Amino acid sequence: MKKFYIKTFGCQMNVYDSMRIASMFRAMGFAETDDAKAADAIVLNTCAVREKATNKVFSELGRLRSNKKPDAIFGIVGCVAREAGTDAFRRIPELNFVLGPQTYHKLPEIIANPGVKLLDIELPGLEKFNALDNSAFKIHHSAFAYVPIQEGCNHCCTYCIVPFTRGRELSRPFDDVMRDVHAAADAGAIEICFLGQNVNGYKFSLANLIRETANIESVKRIRFTSSYPTEMSDDLIALFGTEPKLLPFLNMPIQSGSQNVLTRMNRPYSLELYLGIVDKLKNIRQDIQISSDFIVGFPGETDEEFEQSCDVAQKVGYINSFSFKYSPRPHTAAALMPGQIPENIKKQRLKILDGILNENNRAFNESCVGKIFECLVEGPDKTGKHLIARTPYMQQIIIPKTDSALVPVRVTSANKCSLRGEVVKNQS
Ligand code: SAH
Ligand code: F3S
Repeated sequence: MKKFYIKTFGCQMNVYDSMRIASMFRAMGFAETDDAKAADAIVLNTCAVREKATNKVFSELGRLRSNKKPDAIFGIVGCVAREAGTDAFRRIPELNFVLGPQTYHKLPEIIANPGVKLLDIELPGLEKFNALDNSAFKIHHSAFAYVPIQEGCNHCCTYCIVPFTRGRELSRPFDDVMRDVHAAADAGAIEICFLGQNVNGYKFSLANLIRETANIESVKRIRFTSSYPTEMSDDLIALFGTEPKLLPFLNMPIQSGSQNVLTRMNRPYSLELYLGIVDKLKNIRQDIQISSDFIVGFPGETDEEFEQSCDVAQKVGYINSFSFKYSPRPHTAAALMPGQIPENIKKQRLKILDGILNENNRAFNESCVGKIFECLVEGPDKTGKHLIARTPYMQQIIIPKTDSALVPVRVTSANKCSLRGEVVKNQS
């Protein structure tokens, strides 16, 4: 049997796209291998959000081209394919295909014609969703499914390459999304995570999607990512108070705590508005927790502006958050802005902000000790002796083996990265 190897870089959207690519290979009679040297087809699904991510892809390609089977079909899909285009073939002449985030469904063409080189980085919109079947849902792990509801992004933050690589924002039709939700539930998904770059800007009402999904008896947990602050409608906010299946955890990146930096980022919301949404959410659901992304060292960021990011990180008490050093990207306005910040200052600022975010995590994790949460089992840990599960806040929790996919767990200990817990037998 022929074998395929796929490696995924970057965001949850890419994780989903890779699941679909894997299911296409299975449909063509391939089996998956985690040994690239043994593979007959090699795919890297790539991320271009930061320069480091793009460089990683090319160094991996450099390694693979001399280690792969000589006749293995070899290529890249995703955002780096779109960023690099024909230049990818110039840099790595052995590549057979370079396919963008909206054209990877054309992979069977290259498998059928291994002699040709295929470049397609067009943005045909939602075509890929219709070209693929629904059989991918069980692959990630059986109790959980990503359901994308959108492609692309219209927000045009001045630092971000995504509107170029994934194109303008398009919402999938409501019925198509619900068909995927039902397929996922039929395949055993207990948790559904709706995906979009600007997920709460979904044209046909994310709140209605959540309500309709919550009506499916076997679906027990619902979440969505990533949210844009000004798209948080009152209807959606209210749902956190009325829909128990909606997890009390929201990813709503602020990016910076400085009003001036937000303006330069073309994120036209006031801090007041952002913090007002956080307050509304906390009033509606007291146990809600919020996660954010931050960028440090954006062009022109002063010490004072950076400190405002630290202040907001402390004030909101974010958990499970990410901070990144600003990375100038092609096709973005910020790359051309004056006042680019030296690497050593970015590094220092990242360390300080990470310190605050880690401290928030540690404090929150410790506050969970003794509490009981329903946790969704992901699979065995590295040792194979325990299971890894996720709390409603997406914290990783190590638990003893159990047969159920969703189990009540009492948290017994915590550190800044993860929790340990015991399964609660007779919950009274
Ligand atoms: N809305 C998207 C965001 C995509 S990019 C989502 O669904 O996750 C993910 C994060 O990368 C952004 O929130 C931002 O914090 C960070 N990022 C984007 N462009 C960046 C750049 N040029 N340099 C550093 N970080 C960047
Ligand atoms: Fe990028 Fe801003 Fe959209 S971070 S994905 S342009 S909301």
